[in-house]
Amino acid sequence: MPHLQLSPVRAVRGHLLVPGDKSISHRYVLLSALADGRSTIDHLSPGADVAASLGCVEALGARVDRLGPASVHITGQGHGGLRQASGPLACLNSGTTMRLLAGIVAGLPFVSKLTGDDSLSRRPMGRIIDPLTRMGARIESQEGRAPLVIQGGPLRAVTWAPPVASAQIKSAVLLAGLSATGTTVVHEPAATRDHTERAFPLFGLRCDVQGLTVSVAGGQRASAPTGVLTVPGDPSSAAVWAAAAAALPGSSVQFPGVALNPRRLGFLTALTRLGARVTIVTDAEIGGESVGTIAVAFGDRQDTTIGPDEVPDLIDELPVLAAVAAFGRRLEVRGAGELRVKESDRITALVTGLRALGVEAEEFPDGFAIDGTVRQPRGGEADAAGDHRLVMAFTLIALGASGPTGIRGAERVAVSYPAFIADLQRLTP
Ligand code: S3P
Repeated sequence: MPHLQLSPVRAVRGHLLVPGDKSISHRYVLLSALADGRSTIDHLSPGADVAASLGCVEALGARVDRLGPASVHITGQGHGGLRQASGPLACLNSGTTMRLLAGIVAGLPFVSKLTGDDSLSRRPMGRIIDPLTRMGARIESQEGRAPLVIQGGPLRAVTWAPPVASAQIKSAVLLAGLSATGTTVVHEPAATRDHTERAFPLFGLRCDVQGLTVSVAGGQRASAPTGVLTVPGDPSSAAVWAAAAAALPGSSVQFPGVALNPRRLGFLTALTRLGARVTIVTDAEIGGESVGTIAVAFGDRQDTTIGPDEVPDLIDELPVLAAVAAFGRRLEVRGAGELRVKESDRITALVTGLRALGVEAEEFPDGFAIDGTVRQPRGGEADAAGDHRLVMAFTLIALGASGPTGIRGAERVAVSYPAFIADLQRLTP
């Protein structure tokens, strides 16, 4: 579907099992490769990003047996068992693969070359090059961008205060810290998703969390978990349908089995402030993560603002929140400059696409404003700029627009959500 054509619908209704969480899947894959023994992972994210992580660990010598589209055995031989890949480690479009893997290969005694597609090759890598270099890795880059050539080796612990709140930076440093001498400490400027910290104990690894400070002792060996690791549903995938329910009168959707990590649920607070009716029911703790059901129904139309303090908890959902606002609300987002260095420049590309679909949208250096009270989106043609989250946002506009909508580059949604169109059809019979 290079060019997706969509017609408006009345409402979205029903329940759905969303794909496995992308962030958690990456961590389980990478830690399985570092561990001694065979790990079994179920409900793994079926997206191209996690496939990139699988391909990289395979290239480094871990054995990957694909049991089905969302189920794998990964057999690692411990840190010491990984070996130099015969070619580049292709991270494709996946920033999480590149940054977390860089943390791992920084501690391995050989050269690794990490490559990305055009989008990933434009994204800033200085943020991980700096701490990893300080720890003792030698890294060549294209002025702070991929490809990265990393000569790994013995590392020493570092105390690092990342300049931006980023789970990828934190995780890269913690993973490198596992093979360093001494205790590595990360002081975060604001709390970010803590899936790495929650995954460590599953692999017999310890880390200590005190507020915004995370420490990991070097020289720890990871071991494969005894039971099956089941990845909970991805709240960022549920978010698009939750946002559609908030936007379209008469809608009501439910998602069982979703990860309820508080650092991922900021979008639900924002949807509530935009007028939606939101219910969260926690069912279980699985692999250190709370899992349960999210239900969202259309409620009302209200205006809101989102400020810098909230941004880390809903960074990936800002495009779909913008799309909700396009239906009768005003939304202003500030302190979200990080959006400019995602898979696309998500401020410019979002505002450009929304305008093309008839939405009143304004761009700021660090955010955007949407005024959905001026008119209903009319549809038209929008370019997703190679960014899966923008495909999702423009789809949402298409569902409630007055005319048909075409989305260029819609195939990119497969980065996190290959069954996106099938699931859309399930909710809009
Ligand atoms: C991710 C962290 C976030 C997020 C990305 C996934 C992760 O990026 O936007 O989609 O899995 O750690 P940053 O760490 O760059 O904020």
